[in-house]
Amino acid sequence: MKIAVLTGGGDCPGLNAVIRSVVRKGVHDYGYEFLGLRDGWLGALQDNVVPLDTSSVRGILPRGGTILGSSRTNPFKHEDGVRRIRDTLAAHQIDALIVIGGEDTLGAATELSRQGINLVGVPKTIDNDVPGTDYTFGFDTAVSIATEAIDRLHTTAESHMRTLVVEVMGRHSGWIALHAGVAGGANVILVPERPFDVDQVCDWVKSRFKINYAPIVVAAEGAVPMEGQMILKDRSLDEYGHVHLSGIGEWLAQEIAARTGTDARTTVLGYVQRGGTPTAFDRWLATRFGLHAVDAVKDGAFGTMVALHGTEIVRVPLDGARGRTKVVDPSLYDEFAVFFG
Ligand code: F6P
Repeated sequence: MKIAVLTGGGDCPGLNAVIRSVVRKGVHDYGYEFLGLRDGWLGALQDNVVPLDTSSVRGILPRGGTILGSSRTNPFKHEDGVRRIRDTLAAHQIDALIVIGGEDTLGAATELSRQGINLVGVPKTIDNDVPGTDYTFGFDTAVSIATEAIDRLHTTAESHMRTLVVEVMGRHSGWIALHAGVAGGANVILVPERPFDVDQVCDWVKSRFKINYAPIVVAAEGAVPMEGQMILKDRSLDEYGHVHLSGIGEWLAQEIAARTGTDARTTVLGYVQRGGTPTAFDRWLATRFGLHAVDAVKDGAFGTMVALHGTEIVRVPLDGARGRTKVVDPSLYDEFAVFFG
């Protein structure tokens, strides 16, 4: 059996841990052969493959990023995309694919699976927004990085008695904002799922100043004010139709300063949240996903995705993840209302 592995979408810590785990188990337990497809679906379209064996995955467990490269290529946006993928698979006698990706990459995988390509999905993303799994790997690392940043911003904010707005990733879901905001003791947490009232945010900021503390406002990049539109820096779209976000933090700091007459600054954490070594939890989860993905291929469980349910790794239908985003439940968000202001 020959299996190809690809990593698609935004990179995240733990991708290499999955690749290592897949190859180690597949070679050792089942005698499978492996190939890597470079840069997500692009490698499948362009027949760009690299050898993958136990020696090529040695030492990669703690390394961030992906040794296979990644891209946001959507095979259905390329002429003859499906045929070209079939040609690549046939040229290398590939029997099955292990597709490591988020909503978009797995969405394309779902359609390709429907069209008869044997594949198994592995959910990844720092955003933790893939439905069907309790957690994706990469999320814990991003939350840890954002929490450390918030801890550091508290002390500088207090020294200057100013508001610090921290913009974190999360275009459709506020998981990073909520977890890091709670862990870092933020005074305001803004998520895309709950349009916010700028006046309310300013009231929280003022009440924080009143007790002589400097406010920390954590905003997901996709957070939107009630009365307006999403704040966008540019309007370019990727191949999955997503706009490039960022700008809410800057806008909010300006509004807070203007409306409260106090000093406010912004820190945009950006790609720092995605880079570097994965936490122990993410290495653990990614390793388990890899082991179970190989078993799914061995069992011929194509069209499924490995997922975490509680402490168990299970298989769920890939199409369950299609076109949906796992968002923050309003009641979970409301649990933390006591910490706002
Ligand atoms: O990986 C998902 C994500 O982190 C989103 O939160 C963010 O909007 C996006 O990636 C930005 O990534 P890129 O600029 O690589 O498209």
